[in-house]
Amino acid sequence: MTVSISLINMKGGVGKTTLTIALAEFMAIEHGLRVLVIDLDPQSNASACLMDLEQWKRQNMRGQTVMRLFLDSFKDWPVFSPREAVVKNASNIGGGIEGLDLMPSGTELMDLQDSLMTIYSEQEDRSPLIYLLRDAIGNILQDYDMVLIDCPPSLGLITQNGLAISDYYLIPVIPETMSIHGIPQIVTRVNRFKKQTGSSLEPMGVVATRYRQQNPEHFLNLSDLRAGAQKKGYRRLFETIIHESTPAANAVNFRRQAAKLREKYASPRPFNEYRELSREVLNHVGK
Ligand SMILES: Nc1ncnc2c1ncn2[C@@H]1O[C@H](COP(=O)(O)OP(=O)(O)OP(=O)(O)O)[C@@H](O)[C@H]1O
Ligand SMILES: [Mg+2]
Repeated sequence: MTVSISLINMKGGVGKTTLTIALAEFMAIEHGLRVLVIDLDPQSNASACLMDLEQWKRQNMRGQTVMRLFLDSFKDWPVFSPREAVVKNASNIGGGIEGLDLMPSGTELMDLQDSLMTIYSEQEDRSPLIYLLRDAIGNILQDYDMVLIDCPPSLGLITQNGLAISDYYLIPVIPETMSIHGIPQIVTRVNRFKKQTGSSLEPMGVVATRYRQQNPEHFLNLSDLRAGAQKKGYRRLFETIIHESTPAANAVNFRRQAAKLREKYASPRPFNEYRELSREVLNHVGK
């Protein structure tokens, strides 16, 4: 059975993309899962980190990106074709990882989110717009064991399309006070989405990212994150904490080709952290 997880946070720069990529790579290599990463963010960071820039430009020109899928929804002649858009053997590890595929995004449509909102706000019933992604790519999801969706830093229509095909959502958070205050708002908005759509989407938990040991505030906030999980409705704080590290930041540069996971993620850290977190996530979903 396919399991689909959206990584969400309205706050930018919390490590959603970095985490999506690492989880996908560990799940594909260490657990032998067939993984699809969907890049739902017009910034296209996950695409740039998982595929060659020139290939991606060509793909953009052919209109085979997830952004084009949204644009097609108000054009008479759709261009996007899911099977053509999927990039096989993505990643800068070993020249590409067998079993790791990418549905890339496209930056040329950076303004799309705004245009979509304008166009769609004029329509009375917005509910079909939440299912554009599901209707377009629903039939290829079953080819995968795991679908990881890298969402933009917003809970707007594009992210909601990701939530509509997800079983779980996971919230990466930098353990600083302002970020933590935003979590109940995320849970409330997702719960509202669930109510509107009848979705059985479940919170999987919060992952503390970019943790700085020398920052006492980060340390104290971890306890709050652990203690508040049930009451605030995000289920749990994952045991594995992702520390701020230069190798973690540098790893995602596609031009830095690596032979193995251990080389890309510089053992022991962040390699061990991503390895442990992947196990925790898979345990949660029974894989
Ligand atoms: N563990 C880490 N240690 C150090 N730097 C990190 C770590 N995780 C992410 N970063 C860096 O932090 C920045 C933001 O990370 P990332 O792009 O993954 O966040 P994001 O939540 O996807 O951002 P956005 O909301 O803009 O999509 C990037 O420069 C990335 O390299
Ligand atoms: Mg991102």
